[in-house]
Amino acid sequence: MCGIVGYLGKQDSVPILIKGLKRLEYRGYDSAGIAVMNGNNMHLLKKAGKVRELESAIDDSVLTGSVGIAHTRWATHGEPNDINAHPHQDHTNSIALIHNGIIENHGVLKQVLEQQGIEFKSNTDTEVLAQLISSIYYSDGLTFEQAVRAALQKVVGAYGIVAINKREPDKLVAARFGSPLVLGVGDGEYFLASDASPIVEYTRNVVYLDEGDMAIITSEGYTIKKIFDNQIVSREVATLNWSYEQIEKGNYPHYMLKEIHEQEQTIIDTMRGRIQVEKGNAHLGGVHDWLPRIETARRLYITACGTSWHAGLIGKYLLEEYAGIPVHVEYASEFRYREAIIDSETVVIAISQSGETADTLAAIRKAKGKGALTLGICNVVGSTISRETDCGVYTHAGPEIGVASTKAFTAQVTVLSLLALNLGRRRGLSRSQGQKIARALASLGNKVHRILKNATQVEKVAWETQYADNFLYLGRGLNFPVALEGALKLKEISYIHAEGYPAAEMKHGPIALIDERMPVVFIAPHDHTYEKVLSNIQEVKSRRGKTIILTDKKTRDIVELADYMIEIPTTHQHIFPILASIPLQLLAYQLAVLRGCDVDQPRNLAKSVTVE
Ligand code: AGP
Repeated sequence: MCGIVGYLGKQDSVPILIKGLKRLEYRGYDSAGIAVMNGNNMHLLKKAGKVRELESAIDDSVLTGSVGIAHTRWATHGEPNDINAHPHQDHTNSIALIHNGIIENHGVLKQVLEQQGIEFKSNTDTEVLAQLISSIYYSDGLTFEQAVRAALQKVVGAYGIVAINKREPDKLVAARFGSPLVLGVGDGEYFLASDASPIVEYTRNVVYLDEGDMAIITSEGYTIKKIFDNQIVSREVATLNWSYEQIEKGNYPHYMLKEIHEQEQTIIDTMRGRIQVEKGNAHLGGVHDWLPRIETARRLYITACGTSWHAGLIGKYLLEEYAGIPVHVEYASEFRYREAIIDSETVVIAISQSGETADTLAAIRKAKGKGALTLGICNVVGSTISRETDCGVYTHAGPEIGVASTKAFTAQVTVLSLLALNLGRRRGLSRSQGQKIARALASLGNKVHRILKNATQVEKVAWETQYADNFLYLGRGLNFPVALEGALKLKEISYIHAEGYPAAEMKHGPIALIDERMPVVFIAPHDHTYEKVLSNIQEVKSRRGKTIILTDKKTRDIVELADYMIEIPTTHQHIFPILASIPLQLLAYQLAVLRGCDVDQPRNLAKSVTVE
């Protein structure tokens, strides 16, 4: 979703801002723009399309200066074109503003401003805010900072903003309410961004702005105040724990492929210092003190969106089976608006790679308001969800840049396995059962390595199914969420329509779709559901569907029924979903590449969905 970059320092801001926009491309966008102060002049350039198109339109003799703001826009109000791209200026062209989020009362505010004779150029809610700041600035004789604050007090909605004003050229005014903003503190230079990726190259010292914070930055330093009462607040300067290299593509053609391959290591990183093989247990420092409350909870909710919700479904199976606590898995967008039974005996687990997803954030705020204990499973350190939950576990998968979540998913399932194991042991799971699970988790790195080494088996399937318009993914039990996740991966990056179903549900509808052009992916480990799934495979085969079978043993039945077989190393049946999801990621990736799709930035999608 929209990306913000701001710079104030001694260097020319333009290359820093453009590079920053490129770092944020992964969030998803459709247009980009930049505004730079040069002395008392402001120069602005905006373009629909990619950042490289904006970059190639830059005339460096004009667009240069040490204070600037830049933005990638993901359209909400008004189509993606040059005019609707940010920054937006006021009618005097003195003030420029970039904004993430939505100004919900923009219609009413616009009417009032139009009555003052102000003409609007764009269809955006953001221009309304730029004009409002300007109107207050000129009519009330306030400083720029005061005018921004006064305008924000009239606004209903969510925002992360950065504004500049050519009458106060040595200043960036930023604010956050609902959309993340990170301030990078360098040596005599300051950076603002939607996340730390544009900053890490220049400094590791960052300040995560809290809800309702406003940052006023000049070459003398920065001050953070609350928007609503103007009180100065101090915020800790945190140190980024990841490196610049981690956000580079390296020798891989796409971030997604790099991140799929990284899983061999990231799964180990997720478990490091947490798994206790001999004890058959796990220790999660971030939730340890809260375990007495979690293990006695009457109910657990897991709330999340998209891929993280799929991880939650797997978590439900594990938590209920090991710990015997009832678990409800809810889409955050539904959970936040329904009257679920939430009280002080409820624990709400929020799963989010970015830690910024608007619906998930709203869901935990609601749960907290009703007295529940909230637990975050996030990947991005310092993200809003990780800071607002009472306790939590980081997935430690490292920065995930590809829009399609891969390594974050397997890390989430790994964390949920550790949590279920830990809670299970406290609630009667035996040491020997615990040891079996812990051993299986501990040997995952090696097995992921074998799957990745054997990627040609997936490439062959992709090559031969690339012309299909639809795919069906079927699995049972823990592997039903794997089917859902496989289908989601395929849709989002290859634009092939795909559905995931519990295998037995096929007979209740989807079977009507089966013919010789329909590839059906079965996740079929030799567990207690194997015989049942085998019957479903036969049903597809007898209707001439193309069967792609992911399994852990090459039995005669499978060989006879499979048009394509993808072998997965044997493991504990509860850990199988982690392994099975990797060939499905590869399949989606290969198909997307064969169909010429933009793998890392699929159309219409955003990495971090900060609006509801
Ligand atoms: C994953 O491939 C998707 N792009 C998407 O479903 C994602 O998982 C969802 O938007 C939730 O994001 P989060 O984990 O950052 O909260």
